[in-house]
Amino acid sequence: MSEEQKQAENRARPTTDEFRAFVKEDWAPRRPTVSGPSPAAPYAASRRAAVSAAFPGERLIVPAGGLKVRSNDTDYVFRPHSAFAHLTGLGADREPDAVLVLEPLAEGGHEAVLYFRPLADRDSDEFFADTRYGEFWVGARPSIEDVELELGLTGRHIDEFAAAAAKDAGSMVIRLVRDADRDLTRSLDAARVENGAQEESLAETDDALAHHLSHLRMVKDEFEIEQMRAAVAGTKVGFEAVIADLPEAVAKGRGERWVEGVFGLHARHTGNGVGYDSICASGDHANTLHWIKNTGDIKDGDLLLLDAGVEVEHLYTADVTRTLPVNGTFSDAQREVYDAVYAAQQAGIEAVKPGNKFSDIHAAAIRVIAEHLHAWGLLPEGVSVEDTLDTEHGQFHRRWMVHGTSHHLGIDVHDCALATRAEYMDAELEPGMVLTVEPGLYFKADDLKAPERFRGIGVRIEDDVVVTADGCENLSAGMPRTADDVEAWIREVQGRNV
Ligand code: GLY
Ligand code: MN
Ligand code: MN
Repeated sequence: MSEEQKQAENRARPTTDEFRAFVKEDWAPRRPTVSGPSPAAPYAASRRAAVSAAFPGERLIVPAGGLKVRSNDTDYVFRPHSAFAHLTGLGADREPDAVLVLEPLAEGGHEAVLYFRPLADRDSDEFFADTRYGEFWVGARPSIEDVELELGLTGRHIDEFAAAAAKDAGSMVIRLVRDADRDLTRSLDAARVENGAQEESLAETDDALAHHLSHLRMVKDEFEIEQMRAAVAGTKVGFEAVIADLPEAVAKGRGERWVEGVFGLHARHTGNGVGYDSICASGDHANTLHWIKNTGDIKDGDLLLLDAGVEVEHLYTADVTRTLPVNGTFSDAQREVYDAVYAAQQAGIEAVKPGNKFSDIHAAAIRVIAEHLHAWGLLPEGVSVEDTLDTEHGQFHRRWMVHGTSHHLGIDVHDCALATRAEYMDAELEPGMVLTVEPGLYFKADDLKAPERFRGIGVRIEDDVVVTADGCENLSAGMPRTADDVEAWIREVQGRNV
């Protein structure tokens, strides 16, 4: 009995044989839990084909991961490992403890087999008594037939996984995504070592697969681009709901919490939820880059930096930042900082085109930031723009923008995290890549090097762009960006239905 079960014993009720017999009777025949093939299925199949070609003759194991305890006997809502989601097409909530295995075939290629916990029969204890998996407690799960129809791969019961994963382990390379499911990793490591694998080389063997799967997500297919469009559309709904409620957020007090809730409500309604914890940072909080505590008030005259994104059911997330004048009008100092960040972002967006490198986006944006800091006289005496941009001896400007300008975006907000520097930072941009462009300037309230008028002002502007054949498309262009357009946007949204 697990610790959690022991703790729940004091709340257990008697289960009689009579109840057991009664509870399994008189249910209508089960209906399928899926309505047909998933639109993601053919794209997931192409991705698996690419993986199959890269690792011929090897068994490749990609777990979804298990439920994670939040506290005591309550779990977080389940979120599958990103590689699993990408290769199966399964999205939000699906499928705890499942494992995708690409099993090499004698004739070449691989068979995709999804081992998972299918719906239990109604005469099982699980049906009514299992609080973690039982239908009475968490709802019906798909059957094997459901999953095969939905995803176009072979479905098997998870109980068959351990034997299948270790089969012929002595005579074939087995690679595993290690960070999805620690228990599974431990037992598969033991099985591999028992069959002659070198313990020291397991991590290296597995890392090659994890790296491949992360890099595979770098150029998005058309399904993924559509998912990103949907994520951005939902994000716009959330931003406009926040704008409409800004006066309420000020009046109520604890306004950052209110904004987090309003955005979260719409994220949940238009998509699956937020793709990362929203940053709802008013006033000086905007100068804390990942301010996710969101515990502050929002005051008239302040800026609100809202960095938030809707994640859709297939888990693709937007990542957008707008810095909004709470009362609808930028002060002169706020506008001065805002315009500098806007100019930097514009330069960054213009650098997003095939032939340029990923690192060129930051180079373009940070130069504009450095130029403004220089013009404001904030760099050390005698330090030119070129001096500060010198990566060996300069970098003084980083005091006011310490972060990079861009990252890849997709199923993870910081997507493709295991790609190498050559594949990421130093790589040429290609059509289908989805990136953020997000410069900022951050003048902390206690920054004595900052002009007094700027202290307590933090601005970031972040958009999501897809690289096209000759440049890029700004997916989040529907959310105004210039200072004038932001003010007009606030007026327009707050004027609706008045
Ligand atoms: N929201 C986190 C980021 O912009 O990277
Ligand atoms: Mn962001
Ligand atoms: Mn970002």
